[in-house]
Amino acid sequence: MTSETTQKFYYPSEEVVKNAAVSGMEAYKALVAEADKDYEGFWGKRAKELIDWQTPFTQVLDESNAPFFKWFADGKLNVSYNCLDRQVQKGLGDKVALIFEGDKGDIAKVTYSDLLTRVSKFANALKAQGVKKGDRVVIYLPMSIEGVVAMQACARIGATHSIVFGGFSAQSLADRINDAGAVLLITSDGQNRGGKALPLKSIADEALASGCPTITSVLVVKRTGAETAMVAGRDIWADEIVAQMSDVCEPEWVEAEHPLFLLYTSGSTGKPKGVQHSTGGYLLHAILTMQYTFDIKPDDVFWCTADIGWVTGHTYITYGPLACGATEIVFEGVPTYPDAGRFWKMIQDHKVSIFYTAPTAIRSLIKAADNTPAVHPKQYDLTSLRLLGSVGEPINPAAWEWYHENIGGGRCPIVDTFWQTETGGHMITPLPGATPLIPGSCTLPFPGIQAAVVDETGTEVPWGQGGILVVKRPWPSMIRNIWGDPERFVKSYYPADFQGKLYLAGDGAIRDKDTGYFTITGRIDDVLNVSGHRMGTMEIESALVAHEKVAEAAVVGRPDDLTGEAIVAFVVLKGARPTGDEAAKVLKELQNWVGQEIGPIAKPKDIRFGENLPKTRSGKIMRRLLRQLAKGEEITQDTSTLENPAILDQLKG
Ligand code: WTA
Repeated sequence: MTSETTQKFYYPSEEVVKNAAVSGMEAYKALVAEADKDYEGFWGKRAKELIDWQTPFTQVLDESNAPFFKWFADGKLNVSYNCLDRQVQKGLGDKVALIFEGDKGDIAKVTYSDLLTRVSKFANALKAQGVKKGDRVVIYLPMSIEGVVAMQACARIGATHSIVFGGFSAQSLADRINDAGAVLLITSDGQNRGGKALPLKSIADEALASGCPTITSVLVVKRTGAETAMVAGRDIWADEIVAQMSDVCEPEWVEAEHPLFLLYTSGSTGKPKGVQHSTGGYLLHAILTMQYTFDIKPDDVFWCTADIGWVTGHTYITYGPLACGATEIVFEGVPTYPDAGRFWKMIQDHKVSIFYTAPTAIRSLIKAADNTPAVHPKQYDLTSLRLLGSVGEPINPAAWEWYHENIGGGRCPIVDTFWQTETGGHMITPLPGATPLIPGSCTLPFPGIQAAVVDETGTEVPWGQGGILVVKRPWPSMIRNIWGDPERFVKSYYPADFQGKLYLAGDGAIRDKDTGYFTITGRIDDVLNVSGHRMGTMEIESALVAHEKVAEAAVVGRPDDLTGEAIVAFVVLKGARPTGDEAAKVLKELQNWVGQEIGPIAKPKDIRFGENLPKTRSGKIMRRLLRQLAKGEEITQDTSTLENPAILDQLKG
């Protein structure tokens, strides 16, 4: 960041400051100082205040088995109780919890007492199928009320859910089911997206047919009404079994460290990692960030556009808003159907006050608004908005400015929230009534989070110098383990390079030399971020080499105006190097293959064929070179050590 940009602060209005939970920069600094002075006291106090505990905890943080940290370990609670029962007890039973809008525009509203009833009945159905505390349940559902209900129902009985995004393939679903050893799968007949009814149960059937021995039953939610084959003795229509259940289900009180959920995400190897989250610490950060970052108020209508298949949908749809007694939108569809004004129309119709979305969505809607005046946000009344958020990838200053001006009317602060599946909630983010904003910067750490930028030895670098983003102290909502692979957990997040003392985020960052504000410079590992979705290059490479025609493959990212990054694959076929029409044909075939193996989001945008890949004499693929080729840049690197320099011409694309 240059010093020019540092002069371009956006300050919150007096009114925003006055009403905010964290009011003014001094209030933010006081919170940071409070945490610095007494770290455990800071978190312990808030855990007591914000969560209803069945058994209070006596110890805040247990570091005896670092980096397997424990928070509030002897306390007991239930997340579903904290989200639902306590709201009803507070008199919010008739308040709308969920406003569901379907792809076709159908609307359903669910109050807190309705939701408690639905969750209790669903939880009893899970119990009737033999699901017990600690069992894993895989959920493969579209955005729906049932998705939220199923997650809450698992939490209610102490089952650990693992959501698989509806865009993942049968193979990805089967891998995740088997890694988790799940006993039950919840899916639906299909999903409505962009005016089409897409199948889901048939993909689940394919996954199960490939061998998922731990699954004993499948609950099938009706959504599209598509004709659906049911396997006798295994598949059950969810509505039929739920209808028979009692609407009372005592919550299972679990230890604070009990795994609330697993969520698989991409890492540096070909195998996705099952990020394991806790109950107490996770819930605390979900609530605290709803209060400090989103400044949630009783009258707000909150809308997070993420899918429950990603961590954002977990923390800021299923858990955070409900634990705060908020009213929130659950949207089944896509931003461009029936037209690219859909988000703006929904904000207008439902009087949304807090809107949280991804930069990719913003960028594609900017383009649409430029091309089609009828879907320009100025055609809609967006005056209900008071706060905007961004998540999942860096937001470029131009998109930020457009969002601020055209959606926020120049009056709404934008919280650019940096966090990860592993962190459970926001890590570095502005607080709307406290932090002056700079477009493109996620600004300062959330109170109680000690983020830093270090060099390879773990030493903090001066502001203005790029480095590796780390977190210096454990925090309540952090990842607890990689399911079934504690060694990989330690290696990935608490590497020996930093003496096991620093949490390694996997991102690069730089702090502005004047303000100390953080800007995320992108992943430093082999993870790509395509439209805000994390993809491991190794995963895509494994999928490619599993194709019968492929001998070798290397995958890299290249910057993309719309999707942030785009996937580029360099492929060596077993036969001759294809050219012309043949190359185009194989390219399509391989794209579809990756779509089938992992899911459409993993399809390479560009595939280049070579007779070989650029390698050092010791046989190492030169990825930096491939990244330059993918971008179409001049090769600046010395290529004299290459085994076969002539190959570069073939791969130029
Ligand atoms: C990136 C999503 C810049 C980052 C919540 C991180 C961001 C990865 C931001 C995690 C942001 C997320 N600015 N980059 N505001 N938010 N990222 O696990 O590279 O799907 O490591 O969690 O997204 O993606 P994940």
